[in-house]
Amino acid sequence: MNPYDKLLEEARDRPFAGIVGWPVEHSRSPALHGFWLKQHKIDGYYGRLPVEPRRAALEELVAFLRRTPNARGCNLTLPHKIEIMPLLDRIHPGAARIGAVNTVIKHPDGLLEGRNSDGFGFMEALRYNAPHWRPNTGPVVVLGAGGAARAIVATLVDAGVPELRLVNRTKSTAIDLGVAFTPDDGRQIVVDRWERRAQALEGVTLLVNTTSLGMRGQPPLDLDLAHLPHTAAVYDIVYTPLETALLATARGRGNRCIDGLGMLLHQGRIGFEAWFGVKVDVSVEQRRAVASDLGV
Ligand code: ATR
Repeated sequence: MNPYDKLLEEARDRPFAGIVGWPVEHSRSPALHGFWLKQHKIDGYYGRLPVEPRRAALEELVAFLRRTPNARGCNLTLPHKIEIMPLLDRIHPGAARIGAVNTVIKHPDGLLEGRNSDGFGFMEALRYNAPHWRPNTGPVVVLGAGGAARAIVATLVDAGVPELRLVNRTKSTAIDLGVAFTPDDGRQIVVDRWERRAQALEGVTLLVNTTSLGMRGQPPLDLDLAHLPHTAAVYDIVYTPLETALLATARGRGNRCIDGLGMLLHQGRIGFEAWFGVKVDVSVEQRRAVASDLGV
């Protein structure tokens, strides 16, 4: 059966959204949105929609969202977050700045808006899990300069971090990111070589890993924490496993730790609230449900 017909059949005349990607089977978004639908007794549905990485396939998706009254929008994962942008009616300024869309909202007038909720999810999980951390009290180090790092760097700069240290294996990517997000108020984004990642931890208030290192199936993140202040928070956006080697080591030396699951859950709030009209929050029960779905 064609995936659109399958989704419509599953949605059974209810308002719906879903995760769009290629592949899309591994996505945990149905578990996290399904939890909220059930928790708030909403007569709605959140499914999966495999869409090939071709412009024509994305055009078909947009046409489907437009013509289907019950379609409220979607989330987008790899490889569509950039290519979808020119096909939408409006891009939220935050998503335009990051250069990627992970949430599409269909407004009541039918207009399709692209948003990026990764920075929001990142900051909310930080706020909940390290409530005493203040952005303006010292430097922050970010490892990695990929798609996730773009959203995180933009958010940290907006939050008022006085000095951001960017460390990436490919230095040129970090330089491009630094140039794109350096604010014009004299604050700095300093790029350091990957070989200097341990020294870059000196005096920071927060360490963020946005690389794929430490993820299940990927090489470990080899990082000496000797220079990291014991008062610094350590945030690993990897969530398979939940307790990465980085977090285990940091926790062992007394650092406040934040795993990647909070960011995943909180970023979902933007879409859910717009699609189904209900304000939601992240709970221990939802964390447990999604973690068990992930097998972590
Ligand atoms: P995402 O969208 O999740 O950020 P990505 O754009 O593929 O994913 O970025 C992955 C990040 O992990 C990049 O910063 C990448 O470094 P490069 O820019 O040098 O590719 C980093 N990364 C991946 N494998 C790595 C490795 N073996 N050593 C160091 N960094 C690595």
